[in-house]
Amino acid sequence: MEAIIIEGLVKSYGPNVAVDHANLHIDEGTVFGLIGPNGAGKTTILRSLLGIIPYDSGKVLVSGTDMRRANPQLKLKIGYLPQRAAFQEWKTTEQVLLSLGRLSGLEKTYLKERVDEVLELLGIEEYRSRKVGKLSGGTMQKLGFAQAILHEPSVLILDEPMAALDPSSRFLFKKIIKESRALGTTILFSSHILSDIEDLADSVGLLQQGKVRYSGTIAGLKKEVDLRSELMVEVVDDKGEWASVRLPGVDIRQPSPGYLVVHLSDVTQWDVMVPKIMEALMNAGCHIRSFNRREPNLEDVYMAYVGGSN
Ligand SMILES: Nc1ncnc2c1ncn2[C@@H]1O[C@H](COP(=O)(O)OP(=O)(O)OP(=O)(O)O)[C@@H](O)[C@H]1O
Ligand SMILES: [Mg+2]
Repeated sequence: MEAIIIEGLVKSYGPNVAVDHANLHIDEGTVFGLIGPNGAGKTTILRSLLGIIPYDSGKVLVSGTDMRRANPQLKLKIGYLPQRAAFQEWKTTEQVLLSLGRLSGLEKTYLKERVDEVLELLGIEEYRSRKVGKLSGGTMQKLGFAQAILHEPSVLILDEPMAALDPSSRFLFKKIIKESRALGTTILFSSHILSDIEDLADSVGLLQQGKVRYSGTIAGLKKEVDLRSELMVEVVDDKGEWASVRLPGVDIRQPSPGYLVVHLSDVTQWDVMVPKIMEALMNAGCHIRSFNRREPNLEDVYMAYVGGSN
């Protein structure tokens, strides 16, 4: 079953097309990561999905429903953490959660328990009675996450959830995302932290200038870009002996003295070729200190797609 369907979504702000015929399909119970440069249209897609902003054309369904026309009951299936969460600043953390919970129609006793639960889960109990206007950016972000999961939604939409967080808080958010997924929640999140996407997402969508350039698994994205993995070889007392090595389909370069980078034209041949390359280098007189294979990570792939200039 698909929890989220986006087909041919177009959204313009005046003359500027922010989202241009985007298609994304997200299976129930999976984590989907949305990546792309600043201004690519990530937030616009998420807000269209939630029915917060009107879009020009296309089909956008969450759990089979167009959120622009959804009844309140259906809207309750979704939790949303906006890129910049804002709350009524004069309320305390607890009051914010209680009033949002009441708006969601949560029953009083359950709501009280649930507020305690999420405050504990996010480690912000000590701020329970603090006015929201006096919270730090990261704590505000945690309150935003707390309100997104308060009503135990089956679909979670998180716009750069980890952006303002310190490393241990980031770890905590990722843990909660993984636990929610294990419970069957569908999670769509945008992020610039590619290692987080790689860590969490089952699939990714790569947006560029409002267009979906890729949608699918990270492995598939790597394959599509066809970035070759590399063999890095450290050589002691390098006298350029490597230059005499000739092996078919093997490209050896020396980016700096004492350091070789080897590429293969056929990446399926690594296991066969690594011992041969080592042997040839040693026969040529190279003293090898270390060698290791480097697989392209999501960042390499992203840069290959998007380039350094957006
Ligand atoms: N309310 C708005 N009015 C006019 N233009 C807007 C508005 N919101 C977004 N845009 C424009 O739409 C485009 C997409 O913006 P969007 O916020 O969706 O990008 P994003 O991928 O979320 O970027 P970021 O990574 O910086 O959060 C940008 O060109 C932006 O300037
Ligand atoms: Mg954004």
